[in-house]
Amino acid sequence: MTTTTGLITPQKWQADHLLMLDQRILPLREEWIELRTHEEVAKAIKDMVVRGAPAIGISAAYGMALAAKNGADLQQASKTLAASRPTAVNLFWALDRINSLQNRDFQRILAEAQAIEREDLEMNRAIGRHGAELVPQNASILTVCNTGGLATAGHGTALGVIRTAHEQGKDIHVYTCETRPRMQGLRLTAYELTKDGIPFHSIADGAAASLMRAGKVDLVIAGADRIAVNGDAANKIGTYSLAVLALHHKIPFYIAAPSSTLDPTLPTGDQIPIEERSAEELTEVDGVRVAPDGCPVYNPAFDVTPGELITGIITEKGVNAKPYNFALASKSIPQPALPG
Ligand code: MRU
Repeated sequence: MTTTTGLITPQKWQADHLLMLDQRILPLREEWIELRTHEEVAKAIKDMVVRGAPAIGISAAYGMALAAKNGADLQQASKTLAASRPTAVNLFWALDRINSLQNRDFQRILAEAQAIEREDLEMNRAIGRHGAELVPQNASILTVCNTGGLATAGHGTALGVIRTAHEQGKDIHVYTCETRPRMQGLRLTAYELTKDGIPFHSIADGAAASLMRAGKVDLVIAGADRIAVNGDAANKIGTYSLAVLALHHKIPFYIAAPSSTLDPTLPTGDQIPIEERSAEELTEVDGVRVAPDGCPVYNPAFDVTPGELITGIITEKGVNAKPYNFALASKSIPQPALPG
C-alpha cells in the first residue's frame, strides 16, 4: 500500500511579500510572519525563524527579490543576506545564482527565486527516490536535526528519504535525536513525523549509542549544510558523533543533500566555516537561566563528519559511494561569495 504525505513548507511568496512560518515557536504555535524587506529576511535567517540549508538559500533569493522591489542597492543587499549565517553553502549558492542574472529587475529575480524553490522540491523528491532504495522493509532509522519540509522547499532531504520510504508502504520506524541545544529534532522533526503519521520515538541525543548497541538502529540518515570535494560533510552539531558510533556498531551512515549543498571550491571539510551561536542557547531553557552566572560556553552549531565515515552520499542524481570526488560539480555550482 502507498501513502501520500502532505507538503510542509517553511515559506510562501504572497503577491508582494514573503510569508515565513516561525520555526522558533513550532510546534506549540503555527504563526506566519510577513517580511517586506531584505533586512527583515536576513534577520529572520540569523534568528532562525527559517533554518535548514536549502530553506535558507530560498529565503535569501526571495530577500533579493524584495530588495529589487524596494529599489535597494542589490550588491549591498546580497552582502547583508550573506552575513546572516556562514555554514550552509546553499545561501551563497542561491545569492550567486541571483547575482549572475543579466537582468536583475524585480520580476526576473522573483522568477529565479521561484525556480530555485521549485527545483529544490524536485531535487528532494529525487533524493527521496534514490535514498528509499537503501531503506529495507521494517527498517529502524536514526536521524538528527530537522531535514524535512521545514528545512527545504518541501518533502526534505534525509527526512525526505524517510518520507518516500513511508509513501512506498515500507513499514519503517524512526528515532529522532532531540538535537540540543535548539531541539530541531524534538520540536520540528517530531512535528513533521506526527503530521505524516510516520511511527517514531524522540530520543535524548545521548541515547543513540545504547540504541545502536541494542540492535535497534538499522541505518542512520542525516542532512548536510556543506559538503567538500572529498565528501567531508558539515551538519548539525552531534552528527559526527553519530557517524563514529555507526562505524563502531557496523551500521550504515548516509548523508542526503541536493547538489546545491556541494561546495566544489573546498577540497576538504577543514575549510568549512563553522557558525558559533550565542551562549544563551545553552545557558537558558525557554528564556529561564539554568547555568551559573558567568558560566563560560562554547557553542558551535555544526560539526564536520569526515567523508571516510559516510557510507553513501545521496543527491538528486543518485547515491555516491566512497571515495568521494565532487570536483566536477564546479561546472554547475557557482563559486560561493563568502560573507565579509
Ligand atoms: O541550524 P539549522 O537548524 O539551520 O541546522 C540545520 C541542519 O543542520 C540540517 O541538517 C541541514 O541544514 C540540512 S536541512 C535539509
